[in-house]
Amino acid sequence: EPRVFSGVQPTGNLHLGNYLGAIRRFVELQDTHPCVFCVVDMHAITVWQEPAELMRSTREVTAAFIASGIDPERHIVFNQSRVAEHAELAWVFNCTARMGWLSRMTQFKDKAGKDRENASAGLFVYPALMAADILLYRATHVPVGEDQKQHLELTRDIAAKFNNDFSARIAELGLGVAATGEDAAEGATQGYFPMTEPLIDGPATRVMSLKDGTKKMSKSDPSDLSRINLTDDADAIARKIRKAKTDPDALPSEVAGLAGRAEADNLVGIFAALAGRTKADVLKDFGGQQFSAFKPALAEVAVAKLGPITAEMRRILADPGAIDQVLSKGAARAREIAAKNMAEVKKIVGLLAD
Ligand code: TYM
Repeated sequence: EPRVFSGVQPTGNLHLGNYLGAIRRFVELQDTHPCVFCVVDMHAITVWQEPAELMRSTREVTAAFIASGIDPERHIVFNQSRVAEHAELAWVFNCTARMGWLSRMTQFKDKAGKDRENASAGLFVYPALMAADILLYRATHVPVGEDQKQHLELTRDIAAKFNNDFSARIAELGLGVAATGEDAAEGATQGYFPMTEPLIDGPATRVMSLKDGTKKMSKSDPSDLSRINLTDDADAIARKIRKAKTDPDALPSEVAGLAGRAEADNLVGIFAALAGRTKADVLKDFGGQQFSAFKPALAEVAVAKLGPITAEMRRILADPGAIDQVLSKGAARAREIAAKNMAEVKKIVGLLAD
């Protein structure tokens, strides 16, 4: 059975990359799939978070989900730490994943930096918790930005190793699901966990910094001018786009002409994603024009798209109690699925339970 799962960290500064690369895709998928959307607060604490700020940020991500159009009545929206099974399954996966696999994760290398001795142990096993998030619901599809691709490959490796390590036990208990499609072709037969597919598509799977087209737009960039925050008002959006780095040339009339022009490529990609068009289509209108003409047009679509979301977020955030209720109800629904699956995992592994 298909099921979508995805998560967003409550680490402040939700930005255009999070929206275009992930949240907007969640909204599209809710019409075709049962979905579980999680505010991953336990992932957030792999690096230091001020407690009050973490709570505020958890509510803010929830507000962004709802303001963007996710319906928490139809789908499951909750914060990770409310469902203890995430931590339980993560422990099992810490014992499935190999040190070597985790050591190769580029995000760990980036975030730990040079002072690896001083990184939290949680930061190192972060991807095992992420695999647990997804596989706890036996989710088949995960919409994310490009930067999560390696983590999703690891999720498949963990699922495959678990399925393989316990294959006899899974068959004996009759808990396997038949492999389908690509997985059957790869020789997999029956496993407990599905081979989750990443959904990474569209013109904005990797939105870059407005100040440096070679760096991805990020919550942690010290320069606020590098990103458009979902909380920015129209003036801030227009100012950041006006100040965005560009090169001196006119826009090309074809996509091939964007090669080697990281900043131009990024702004055209953002325009395309916001307007629901392709880059080629955008260049049909703007090819040959200077950035002085393109930037105001880009600011206009950005404000038109993001303005209503920002306003709705503010409205929702004014009532934190209502947000907490959404999260609490969502967690109760998530727990139903999680408890059933975790009980099965315990049976498979040989962990005695009631
Ligand atoms: P996080 O919180 O860093 O980002 C949330 C989502 O936004 C996407 N994203 C981007 N997309 C395009 N351009 C960008 N510049 C950009 N920056 C971020 C991310 O790819 C992500 O989809 N590890 C995850 C959270 C997570 C998760 C999960 C995701 C925990 N468990 C299970 C999916 C499934 C993360 O740190 O995302």
